[in-house]
Order: sequence, then structure tokens, then C-alpha cells
Amino acid sequence: MHNDLAEVLFTEEEIAGRVGEMGRAITRDYACTADEGGIVLVSVLRGAAIFMADLARRIELPVEMDYLAVSSYGNGAKSSGVVRILKDLTSEIEGRHVIVAEDILDSGLTLTYLLKNLSSRHPASLEVATLLRKKTPAQAKIDCKYLGFECPDDFIVGYGLDYAERYRNLPCIGILKPEIYQ
Ligand code: PRP
Ligand code: MN
Ligand code: MG
Repeated sequence: MHNDLAEVLFTEEEIAGRVGEMGRAITRDYACTADEGGIVLVSVLRGAAIFMADLARRIELPVEMDYLAVSSYGNGAKSSGVVRILKDLTSEIEGRHVIVAEDILDSGLTLTYLLKNLSSRHPASLEVATLLRKKTPAQAKIDCKYLGFECPDDFIVGYGLDYAERYRNLPCIGILKPEIYQ
């Protein structure tokens, strides 16, 4: 699988270090919620599942984990521009402190749609933790409180991120060789 990468952007160790820092920041910022049941981490399936699983274990507060399935990309390399909810949350989030965990913020379409949808359920607070954010002008519009790394505007795979459902199980994050998807 590593042979399909043009470049490794973040190693397994670098990711673990950054996720640990994000978890500590969240623990600090949400310490006062410990008596009100802590936080609800919402993972956007399927890409963010690995990131959220690691992040949750770096937060030293009560954490509830819930999952939403949304898809905008399908099996293609480009966003279709259409966001669909394939599976909704199991829990009610009204009055809860919610953090949406995303693996990557690309066009921002998925998160823009989700934040609007989730805020209509009246959570006590709603923030975003994204591991990666592509360096494109579109991103400026989305306010994400917790950001892991900025990454180039290439096709990124690994640590949950796929191309046609492959490479999610790569422990590192890298740039897919263009000849693989062209
Ligand atoms: C990818 C990625 C983000 C989204 C980001 O998900 O995991 O959720 O696209 O793109 P955007 O900012 O342009 O909306 P995808 O739709 O590929 O589904 P997946 O998580 O199941 O791979
Ligand atoms: Mn996704
Ligand atoms: Mg995908």
C-alpha cells in the first residue's frame, strides 16, 4: 500500500502526537462539562471513525460516542456536490456539548451541511475537530476550533481516508500517486 503513495505527509507517530494534543486541549476546554455528562463526540462515517476512536481515548472527561453517515464523494476522486445523510445519530443532542470529529475538510460542503443540521437540534454547544484541512480558500468560511494539520490540495489517503474504499487502514497519511486515480 505504501508503494501507492507519492509522499508520506504525516507518520503514525506524528498523528498520535497531534491527536494527543487535541485531546488535551478538549479536556482543558470542556473540564466544566464533567458534571453535566461531558461531551458527545460525533463521528462522520466512514472516514472519521479512526480519528474519533483515537481522539476519544485522549480526552479525560465523560465522552459519549455517536455516528452519522454522510456521503458526498462516493467512489470518485471529486466531490459530487451532494450531501446525503445515510445514517442519523442514535442519541438526542439537545442541551449537550457536541464536537463533530472529521478526518478532512476539503470543499467544506459536508461540514457546512452537517453544522446547519446539528445546530437545528439545539445542542448546548457545537464545535468541530478536524484532523486535516486542505489549504484552499474555501476553508476560511468554516470555523473549526480544533485542527490537526493543514495539508496540500492533493488526493490524501490513510488513517481513515480512502480512495474507492481503499487505504483507510494505512497507519500514516500520504498523497496518493496520481496514476492510481487518473
Ligand atoms: C470525505 C471526508 C470528509 C469529506 C470532506 O468523505 O471523509 O467527510 O469527504 O469533503 P468536503 O469538505 O469536500 O465535503 P466521503 O464523502 O469520501 O465519505 P467517507 O468518509 O465514507 O470516505
Ligand atoms: Mn467522510
Ligand atoms: Mg471518502
